Amino acid sequence: MTNALQNRRILLVISGGIAAYKSLDLIRRLREAGAEVRCVLTQGGAQFVTPLSVAALSEDKVYSDLWSLTDEAQMGHIRLSREADLVLVAPASANMIGKMAQGLADDLASTILLATDKPVMIAPAMNVMMWTHAAVQANIKTLQQRGVKILGPASGLMACGEEGEGRMLEVADILAAVAAHFSVAGSLGGKRALVTSGPTFEPLDPVRFIGNRSSGKQGHAIAKALYAQGAETILVTGPTALPDPAGIKTIRVQTAQEMLAACEASLPVDVAVCAAAVADWRPSEMSDEKLKKGAAKAVLELAKNADILATLAKAGNRRPRLVVGFAAETNDMLKNASEKLVRKNCDWLVANDVGSGKVFNQDDNEVTLLRRDGKGQTQSDAWPRQSKDQVARALVEEIVSFFKTA
Ligand code: CTP
Repeated sequence: MTNALQNRRILLVISGGIAAYKSLDLIRRLREAGAEVRCVLTQGGAQFVTPLSVAALSEDKVYSDLWSLTDEAQMGHIRLSREADLVLVAPASANMIGKMAQGLADDLASTILLATDKPVMIAPAMNVMMWTHAAVQANIKTLQQRGVKILGPASGLMACGEEGEGRMLEVADILAAVAAHFSVAGSLGGKRALVTSGPTFEPLDPVRFIGNRSSGKQGHAIAKALYAQGAETILVTGPTALPDPAGIKTIRVQTAQEMLAACEASLPVDVAVCAAAVADWRPSEMSDEKLKKGAAKAVLELAKNADILATLAKAGNRRPRLVVGFAAETNDMLKNASEKLVRKNCDWLVANDVGSGKVFNQDDNEVTLLRRDGKGQTQSDAWPRQSKDQVARALVEEIVSFFKTA
């Protein structure tokens, strides 16, 4: 996280939903990042978290009553709505979203949301059927058109036991989106970034494919770190179990050919980071029907896929200013990676040893950053083993310095 949140004043509206328990952590994390957090708790919100917990974590009074004479005398709803840099509604219940869309003002939270002249972000949280209901979707569209930023929701298992879209985004993702909001004019503000992530699946027939073990964790973390530094970020990802990161334009693809097409359609960008584990080969033909095991022996004919990294790094006026590749090696890592750096004409290469289950699907990574210095020499920096999020942030710090000095 950058210091984008330092001294930012955030008015957090907590409306009614089980996800309100996560808002307690959100308050703590926002404050740890340097923000001042003032909280408004709706009647519904107070069914899930107590005013005392909210007050203790925010170290401030909790506001909840529009009609309280003392509150209004100390800090009226108009002042509350103006003395903030951002109004964040988390969780945003279906009811709260409906009131916002309709312009209702029947409690303190909805009155503030109507009176504010500040940017508003909401993190919806509700049951999947409620979220997909046409009424809620129409309200969301109305809010989007008015410039409200919608964070999530995420998919997964819900407190009610059902599964699907509607969970409130994880606190870390809300935090990243809020930080990104404040750092738009920050280090990578005005820059466009493209990231590839995850594996590709190359179909053999309607049920089988050739794939690999990439989880997408590293690529997704890099996209989030670029976004957190204010870059307009496009993530082109193969099939992964990861949710689409908030605020990032995410294009989901299956095959290498689709990934290449999505990347080319995203140009021009200032920086491209190719972290995807792209299949080098695809079955020459895809059978429309499931292949039968009939024969005792089968020979599979493969066709070569285009190299996405090398294609993006090809000299030309659409070449990104900075092209960063990854090298997954199981042996002679530095030698192979240095050759790959030159062969693919990229500027930097993040090399990692993927032998014996050390990287794929793990949460941490040990990498060496190779850079071409323009005089035909390659410099290498070995980084300690650290989480993939830390690797992402460290890489993005290098990208920030590159653009500062470029
Ligand atoms: N890459 C790509 N398109 C491909 C193959 C690889 O964009 N068709 C990119 C990867 O995203 C990564 C880099 O190239 O940034 C290196 O990938 P890696 O699998 O290490 O190298 P390969 O080119 O596949 O070479 P080899 O398998 O021979 O080591």
